[in-house]
Amino acid sequence: MSRRVGILISGGGSNMVALVKSMTGDHPARPVLVLSNDPEAGGLAKAEALGVPTAVVDHRPFGKDRAGFEAELDRVLREAGVEIVCLAGFMRILTPGFTGKWAGRMLNIHPSLLPLYKGLHTYARALEAGDAEHGCTVHEVTAELDGGPILGQARIAIDKSDTPESLAARLLPMEHALYPAVLRRYAADDRRPVFLSAGTSALS
Ligand code: GRF
Repeated sequence: MSRRVGILISGGGSNMVALVKSMTGDHPARPVLVLSNDPEAGGLAKAEALGVPTAVVDHRPFGKDRAGFEAELDRVLREAGVEIVCLAGFMRILTPGFTGKWAGRMLNIHPSLLPLYKGLHTYARALEAGDAEHGCTVHEVTAELDGGPILGQARIAIDKSDTPESLAARLLPMEHALYPAVLRRYAADDRRPVFLSAGTSALS
């Protein structure tokens, strides 16, 4: 029986698209819901075009009531029978109340080589630090922001002419290769980490 995957987005959803398109054939999982906290998220139309049911839980009416927002998120996910949650450009911080409920069943992709550069503005921080490389990480979500067990990483060289924008643009295709590769193993209960680097497609 395929594992039922719910994908949480806040914006364009390019990682969501890559995940949805990867779940075919002998893949052990299938997408059953794309959920956004922003009713204007561009990814919602992309999910509908791919035939995936969508839902919106707008965080704004909840104000500072994070627990109320998360209780509704949780209800919608459970109603759809979601078994694995993939955060993909989801821009709300989740409290331990929610991450605890989905412990061991929730993934996130973060645009840095964790544990380097948790939080925001990772590209600018890597450039400011003069790093030779940057990358992205797929990890299990725990109560610690961007802190859970690492399930995969993809690396790219930083070019001296890079800007945060050019770095982000070059990293995104690597995210679209990494996240589906990690989910495929994760859904088959295979916890071997996935390591990719630009220029090689072999999984290591
Ligand atoms: C990506 O940089 C991803 O690493 C981060 O959110 C950004 C937007 O992703 N989590 P998407 O195009 O909305 O999937």
